[in-house]
Amino acid sequence: MHAAREEETLPEDAFVTVGIESSCDETAVAVLRDEDHLLANLVFSQAEIHAPFGGVVPEVASRDHLRKLPLLVVEALTCARTPAERVNLVACTYGPGLLGPLLVGLSYAKGFAAGLGVPLLGVNHLEGHLFAHRLSAPDADPPFMGLLVSGGHTALVVVPEYGQYQLIGSTVDDAAGEALDKVGKQLGIPYPAGAELERLSEGGDPSAIPFPRPMAGAPGFDFSFAGLKTAVMVYLRKHPHARREDVAASFLASVVDVLAAKSIEATRRHRLGRLVVAGGVAACRKLRRRLREDAAGHGIDVHFPPQSLCTDNAAMIAAAGVYRHRVLGETHPLTLAPSPRLSL
Ligand code: KG4
Ligand code: ZN
Repeated sequence: MHAAREEETLPEDAFVTVGIESSCDETAVAVLRDEDHLLANLVFSQAEIHAPFGGVVPEVASRDHLRKLPLLVVEALTCARTPAERVNLVACTYGPGLLGPLLVGLSYAKGFAAGLGVPLLGVNHLEGHLFAHRLSAPDADPPFMGLLVSGGHTALVVVPEYGQYQLIGSTVDDAAGEALDKVGKQLGIPYPAGAELERLSEGGDPSAIPFPRPMAGAPGFDFSFAGLKTAVMVYLRKHPHARREDVAASFLASVVDVLAAKSIEATRRHRLGRLVVAGGVAACRKLRRRLREDAAGHGIDVHFPPQSLCTDNAAMIAAAGVYRHRVLGETHPLTLAPSPRLSL
C-alpha cells in the first residue's frame, strides 16, 4: 500500500475530489485538492490473491473490491485529514475494465456521492492514465502525443487538448504488458510479471538473442506483440537451458525498441513537441531511459508519471474527474452504468 500525506490544513476554498478505481485488480482511493494537489493516494493490490491463478479472476476481484473499498475510503480521508463533509466531487472509473469490479466501485461511488449530496463523475480509465503525469508536472499540458502502455492497452493517441483524443495506432493483438506478463509466466515469474522481468533482465545480455522487432519498420502506428511472445516461447522450448536473464533482456530490448521507435516517429510526424507516456509499462526503467535519450535527440519533451502513478491508481482518476467537472462542466447521473469496453 502506498500513501501520501499532507501536513497542512485544508484551505477554506479548496475543492476536494475523492477518486475511486476498481477496474481490474487494484482497489484504489485518492483524495485530491484542486487539480493537482494530492492529499492521499492508497492502492491495495490484489496481485497476491490472483497470483496462484496466473491472471486476474473477475469474480474473486469483485469480492475483494467489495471488502476493501469501504475501509480504503475511510483510511484515505483520515490520511488526507479531510472530513467527508469537505468532499466536493466523487470521481470513479466506469470503464474500460472487468464488469464485476467496475460495478463494485461505481455502485460504492454512487452511494457515497448521493449520501454526501455531491456530484458524481464517471472517468474513462484510459483518460485517467493520460492525467497521471499532470500530478507531478502540472504544466505539461496538451498538445501532446500520448503513449498508453498497460496490461490491457498499447496505443498512440494525439491529444490536442484534454477531452479530445485521436487514436492513431493500437495493438492488433496483445498489449505490451500482456506480452510481458505471458513471457514472464514462461520464465517462472508470478503475475503481473513486468517489474520482475525487468529486474531479471538486468543480469542478461540484450543482444544475446535476436528476437524480432514486430511492425518496427511498417508504415502506420499499430503494434503487434503476439508474434514476439510466440517467438520467445518457441525459443524457450528449443533451448530449455537458455539463461533466463538473456531471454528476459533480449525480449525486453525488442519491446522497448518497438515502443520507442513508433512513439518518437508518431510525435515527429504529427509535429508535436511533447510525448507523454502512461500506463503500467511506463514504470519500466529501460523504456524510460531509452525514450528520454531518443526524445532528447529529436528535441521532444518527454514526460512520465512517477513510477507509483504509472500502474493503476485513483489519483489519476481524481485528476481526470476534477478536470472534466470543473473545466468541461460535466457531471454524471446516478444512473451511469459501467462500460467494460469503453474506448477513448
Ligand atoms: O496500467 P496497469 O497497472 O493496468 C492496466 O490498466 O492494465 O498496467 C499493468 C501492466 C502489467 O502488464 C505489468 O506487468 C506492467 O504493467 N508493469 C511493468 C512494470 N510494472 C508494471 N512492465 C514493465 N516494467 C515495470 N516496471
Ligand atoms: Zn490501467
